[in-house]
Amino acid sequence: MTTQPAPTPEPPANIGPAAAHEIDALAALMRAVIEPLGYYNARAKRAELMKYDADGLRTLTADDPAAVLVARDGARLVGFCVSRYDDATVWLSWFGTASDARGRGIGAALLAALGRTIPGRGAHKVWCDSRVENVESKAVLERAGFVRVATLTNHWFGQDFYLWEWYPNGTGAV
Ligand SMILES: CC(C)(COP(=O)(O)OP(=O)(O)OC[C@H]1O[C@@H](n2cnc3c(N)ncnc32)[C@H](O)[C@@H]1OP(=O)(O)O)[C@@H](O)C(=O)NCCC(=O)NCCS
Repeated sequence: MTTQPAPTPEPPANIGPAAAHEIDALAALMRAVIEPLGYYNARAKRAELMKYDADGLRTLTADDPAAVLVARDGARLVGFCVSRYDDATVWLSWFGTASDARGRGIGAALLAALGRTIPGRGAHKVWCDSRVENVESKAVLERAGFVRVATLTNHWFGQDFYLWEWYPNGTGAV
């Protein structure tokens, strides 16, 4: 009896660097994801939304196309992963999925795509923060192999954060 190979699972979305024509839609998606988030206070959200308007995103992509990844479902943007090179590390600034597309593996796929950009960007690790109450983010980061390295209390905008790190080889050994 011959056994059929298991079918390759459908990727949850088409992920790649944001194209110039997608930047306005991306800024709108980031606003739609960040604005209603209960985990951040008003000051924090205002500051983040100012950083990641269309002009801010255009500057990031011009400097480093891998800094702004988007997930597409057909022509529609359903997720994003924004990061920046920082002295041989990559700081993951934000990742998010449109509210009606969550739970389909898009967040996990964005983190995996970010990981694949790391060697080409001359970096050896990714690091990021998350609000300590953000259970969805914590779950996805842990599943992607991020390790929690610190808790910062009363930190950015007076709120509590976890710091996380991730290495391409999983260990940090060089
Ligand atoms: C965090 C976020 C990006 C995850 O995106 P996603 O596309 O839903 O992610 P995935 O489908 O890959 O994984 C979803 C996971 O969320 C977790 N999750 C969802 N709701 C949860 C809850 N209430 N409690 C704990 N975990 C939860 C589950 O572990 C789930 O994994 P599973 O499918 O194995 O059960 C999304 O929730 C989001 O955009 N949140 C708002 C923005 C944000 O907080 N970004 C992170 C800033 S650090």
